[in-house]
Amino acid sequence: MEFSTLTTASLHQTKTAALGIGVFEDGMLTNAADIINQASDGAIKDILKDEFKAKAGSHVVLRNLKGVNAKRVVLIGLGKQENYKAITHQQAESVFAKYCVSANVKDAVSTLAANECTDTTLISRARAFAIATGNATYKYTHTLSNKNGSEPTLKKATVWVARGQSADAKAGLSQGKAIASGMALTKLLGDLPGNICTPTYLGNTAKELAREFPTLKAEVLGQKQIESLGMGSFLSVSAGSQEPPAFIVLKHKPKSSSKSDKNAPLVLVGKGLTFDSGGISIKPAKGMDEMKYDMCGAATVLGTLRAVAELNLDREVIGIIASCENMPGGRANKPGDVVTSMSGQTIEILNTDAEGRLVLCDALTYAERFKPEAVIDIATLTGACVVALGHVNTGLFSNNEVLAEQLLKASKQANDASWHMPLDDEYQKQLDSRFADIANIGGPAAGAVTAACFLSRFTKAYPWAHLDIAGTAWDSGSNKGATGRPVPMLVQYLINQSSKG
Ligand code: BES
Ligand code: MN
Ligand code: ZN
Repeated sequence: MEFSTLTTASLHQTKTAALGIGVFEDGMLTNAADIINQASDGAIKDILKDEFKAKAGSHVVLRNLKGVNAKRVVLIGLGKQENYKAITHQQAESVFAKYCVSANVKDAVSTLAANECTDTTLISRARAFAIATGNATYKYTHTLSNKNGSEPTLKKATVWVARGQSADAKAGLSQGKAIASGMALTKLLGDLPGNICTPTYLGNTAKELAREFPTLKAEVLGQKQIESLGMGSFLSVSAGSQEPPAFIVLKHKPKSSSKSDKNAPLVLVGKGLTFDSGGISIKPAKGMDEMKYDMCGAATVLGTLRAVAELNLDREVIGIIASCENMPGGRANKPGDVVTSMSGQTIEILNTDAEGRLVLCDALTYAERFKPEAVIDIATLTGACVVALGHVNTGLFSNNEVLAEQLLKASKQANDASWHMPLDDEYQKQLDSRFADIANIGGPAAGAVTAACFLSRFTKAYPWAHLDIAGTAWDSGSNKGATGRPVPMLVQYLINQSSKG
C-alpha cells in the first residue's frame, strides 16, 4: 500500500476511484462536504434532506456526481457532532476502507482526518486512516487452495488535509503504516493453525524479521539451551508435546542514537502457546480450536517489534517469547507435580491448564539480565479476564503506578482499550501451597487477578506490567480471526518512550 497526502482546495477536481466524505447528523457540512456540495449543485444537501441520516457507522455511495471528478463519493455518517471523538473517527475510516476493499477500488482519498475532534490530533487521525486501510486489506488465505481474486486491489490511499498540515499527516501515515504492518503479522500468526504455526515457526519468523530489518537481531534457543538455563517450569509444560519448544529473543537496537545510550531497554514478553489443549486437565472439546490463538501474546511481540524496527525508534526494545504446546501425554505435567522455576521458586501444579503462567515465569526471570527500565508481558492468560472485561478492554496489571499510567495513556491515544485491574497483596494468599513455594492456581475467585499475582512473584527486580489479552486478541463466531490487538497500544507506548513521542 502506498500512502500519501493531498492538500488541494479544489477537491472536486481530484481524480480518484473513491472519495470519502464525512457528514454529521445535524446537517452542518464539513469543509470537504461543502466543497463537493457546491461543485455538484447541492447534491450532498439533497441526499441529507431525507434519504441519508448520517448515523455513525452508516454510509451511502453517490456515483458520477456532476462537477465532481471522483468516480464515486462515499458519504460516511459521523453521528452527532457533539459526540464526535477518536473512536467515531476510527470507525468512520474503517467503514470507508472496508467499502473500498469490497468495491475493489484501486485508489481512494479520505477527507475524514481533516475533521477536528477533541481527543485527537492530526497525527493520530492520519494514523487511524492508515491503520483502518491496512486492516481492511488483511485477508487470511494461507491455507486456502484457491487464492484467486483474494489479493485486495486497493493500492494507493491518500489523506486530504488543509494546506500546511502535510508534515503532521505524513508522520501519522508512516506510524499508521508501520502499526498496520505489525498488526497484519500478528493477525496472520494468530490465524495460522497450530500444525503450521509451531514454536519453530515463530522462531523462524523472528529470524526472518531480523533479516528484513537491520536494527533487529534474533536468537532462538532450543530444548538443550533452555535446559541449561534451568527453566524447569517452562519445560514442564512443553514436556507433554512432541513439538520442540523455542525460546526466542528478538532485539531492536537503534543505530547511533543518543537516547538509547542513556536508557535501559524496554522488554516485551509474549506467551507463545501454539496450542493449549489444557494438558492432563484437558479442556472441553467445544471451541478448543480457538486455543491455536494462545500464542497471540508472542504474535503481539513480533508484530510490535516489526513496527518498532520499521519506525526505527531510538530506544532499545527487546522481545522475549517462550513458545511450546500444552498437550496431554506420558511425560506431561500431572496435577500435584512440583516443578522448579528458573528463579529457584518451586511451583505446585494443581491444574495443568494454568500453563501460561508456568512458561511466562521463566521468561520473566530471564528478562532480569537486561536490567530493563520496564518489562511488559502480553498473554492470553485467563478465561476469567474475559468474564471480567469481555472483548472490549485488555486487562492491565502492574507493580508500578507510573508504568501503568503510561500504558493507560498509550491505550487511550491508540484507541486500543485497556482497564487497570487490582493487584492487592491480599489476593496473594490464594496461591499458598503446602507442598511448594507457590501453587499455580488460586481458586475460582478473581482468576485474572491471581494469575497476575502468580507472575508478580517473578517480577520483583523491575517495573512490570501484565496485559491479559484473552478477550481482545481474537474475535469468535462468523468474524473469527485475530484482531492484531494490543499492537497499537504497545507501539504508541514505545513511540511515547522514544524521542518521536
Ligand atoms: N489459554 C487459557 C486462557 C484462555 C481461556 C484464553 C479462554 C482465552 C479464552 C489459559 O491457559 C487457561 O487455560 N487458563 C485457565 C486457568 C485456570 C485453570 C485457573 C482458565 O482461564 O480457565
Ligand atoms: Mn490453559
Ligand atoms: Zn493457555
